Amino acid sequence: MSVTAAELVRELTRRFETAGLEDPKVDARTLVCGLLNIDLTDLVLGRTETVGSDDLAFVCAAAERRCRREPVHRILGRRSFFGLDLVLSADTLEPRPDTETLLRAVVPFAQSRAAEAGGCRVLDLGTGSGAICLGLLSEIGSASGIGTDISEGALQTARDNARRAGLQERFETIAGSWFSDVEGTFDLIVSNPPYIPTDDICGLSPEVRDYDPVIALDGGADGLDAYRAIAAGAAEHLANGGRVAVETGFDQCDAVAAIFEENGFTLTERLRDFGGHDRVVVFCL
Ligand SMILES: C[S@@+](CC[C@H](N)C(=O)[O-])C[C@H]1O[C@@H](n2cnc3c(N)ncnc32)[C@H](O)[C@@H]1O
Repeated sequence: MSVTAAELVRELTRRFETAGLEDPKVDARTLVCGLLNIDLTDLVLGRTETVGSDDLAFVCAAAERRCRREPVHRILGRRSFFGLDLVLSADTLEPRPDTETLLRAVVPFAQSRAAEAGGCRVLDLGTGSGAICLGLLSEIGSASGIGTDISEGALQTARDNARRAGLQERFETIAGSWFSDVEGTFDLIVSNPPYIPTDDICGLSPEVRDYDPVIALDGGADGLDAYRAIAAGAAEHLANGGRVAVETGFDQCDAVAAIFEENGFTLTERLRDFGGHDRVVVFCL
């Protein structure tokens, strides 16, 4: 049986609908284009060729995985974030588009700092795939950064991503809990820490609950443990005039602002994500 990529997308869309997936068509297109290296525009315009039998078997096996709720980008092993093509591993959170809100919040500050001082030192706490720090370094050529994480596996992936993006000369990693092995001061301290309350994790979608590492999700009983640790340690590592910016859960901005204010910080900005939810708070000392 011969089938074109466009026909294959239609067939996968049907299978994904039957499996009850939320975005069957988007998933089918992303999977087929990603696995067969097809441009989305060519697919949409019907400029696709017949898929060979090996490729067909390959895509069908991937579709089975998606029907078992493995996320599309986990199957592809990579995802695009802030213009970077990031590889993922079992130890890394899959970076979310909403986290680009944090980058939009801090890029202007980092740019002006770099212009004034000839550079900008960034500390990314809980760097995972390196998404936030590498996004900043790719945008600001004179910036340098350290990504920390408690997971050595995540740091390995972050270093791979730095190499793939040609940013390895300006990116270092430190293994440890929050500030435990960090020395010196930084113009910008950023973090998207784990912020899901422990008891809420079992109610997350299978794509998140079963595939993102639990250590990247679990924020303790009220979801705020990491913010307490970061707020307690940030003053010692913030350069004069620097900023701290953290991503939060959609209903956590006020609580996180209160934690930072108790630690001597002043809220300078709060931003919403693409869905209109409160997502990022920025502080100075
Ligand atoms: C929500 S994920 C964010 C990953 C990445 N920054 C991003 O935005 O895609 C949180 C990260 O914090 C790390 N983490 C969890 N507990 C930590 C701790 N005590 N110290 C440092 N990192 C920690 C996890 O391993 C995970 O990589």
